[in-house]
Amino acid sequence: MFRNDIGIDLGTATTLIYVAGKGIVLKEPSIVAMDARTNKKMAVGQAAYEMLGKTSDLIRVVRPLAEGVISDYEVTEEMLKDFFKKVCSNKFFKPRVCVCVPSAITEVESRAVIDTVMSSGARNVFLIEEPVAAAIGAGIDITVPGGIAILDIGGGTSDIAILSLNGIVCKTSLKVAGNTFNQAIIKYIRSTYNVLIGDNTADRIKRDIATVWPEDASPDEYEVKGRNLVTGLPQRISITNQELMEPLAAEVEHIILALQSVLERTPPELVADIEQSGLIMTGGGSMLGGMDKLISSRIRIQARLADNPVEAVAIGTGLSFDYLGKLYDGFVTYTNYSTK
Ligand SMILES: Nc1ncnc2c1ncn2[C@@H]1O[C@H](COP(=O)(O)OP(=O)(O)OP(=O)(O)O)[C@@H](O)[C@H]1O
Ligand SMILES: [Mg+2]
Repeated sequence: MFRNDIGIDLGTATTLIYVAGKGIVLKEPSIVAMDARTNKKMAVGQAAYEMLGKTSDLIRVVRPLAEGVISDYEVTEEMLKDFFKKVCSNKFFKPRVCVCVPSAITEVESRAVIDTVMSSGARNVFLIEEPVAAAIGAGIDITVPGGIAILDIGGGTSDIAILSLNGIVCKTSLKVAGNTFNQAIIKYIRSTYNVLIGDNTADRIKRDIATVWPEDASPDEYEVKGRNLVTGLPQRISITNQELMEPLAAEVEHIILALQSVLERTPPELVADIEQSGLIMTGGGSMLGGMDKLISSRIRIQARLADNPVEAVAIGTGLSFDYLGKLYDGFVTYTNYSTK
């Protein structure tokens, strides 16, 4: 890995950048605020996040990624240009960039990532699938023969993969992840209390109290502020994590079913290895309270959170340059479009 190599986890919720020799140098929300009249960018990352839900019609606050892929190319390019400027100390040499992508990305979507990253100022672009990056970032030796099970739950997608000997044996990707959990909380509070809460509030509830493991649930009350849908006025309500458990567990069930279907397709020898080594969970979404316990009890394989679940994918993406020559075809997609 050279000094000018950078790894990017271009996430639906957060973008992280790993620079060789320095580690994670940037971690900002994947958000851009644009002037609605001129279409010029006004703020990027954390500064734009703070504007979310608080702007007039003259400012458009955009999340340019949805469900793990780019949904607004121009805005993503603007965001990346800004981030590159912040992290690239050498203004003369363009960086080699490795970007992680969901396993189920289509040809067209990956082309869009390559083109966008190239026009944001990269010299070469490589793509790596998220669960592979997650495994490398979690410090797992992916070169050994023996099953490694990875579950990366991000904001927009959950990626599941069984790895062995530098290759993906089985994989799947589903669009149920952290954002889905927020939506489930919003929907529950709206239908039960007739109160509308914003996405940031739902996210806070999820991080502060939510659990999907019955033994961790408690009757302790948590105050939430929202708007009453009938009166239109602000209203405070008290909720408990007990009542949120069912709607959240219903969403986690989709992830469990996907895990079960991947395990069913996995060769028996590898399943035996995985029973020994367990399932490694990465991504911010996997930090939902009790998720590891619920998954362990359902699939009968010990699930555990990686040491650094939020940063594992970005770290692995940065470190993947070390594997460029060693990996089998289809592991790191070689997308080496050089600029002239
Ligand atoms: N402590 C926590 N408890 C529960 N959820 C959390 C916690 N911390 C972060 N999250 C959730 O993690 C999600 C973001 O995770 P992450 O940063 O891994 O996603 P991403 O990589 O941007 O998305 P994707 O991989 O889908 O493109 C958000 O939904 C956020 O609410
Ligand atoms: Mg991610």
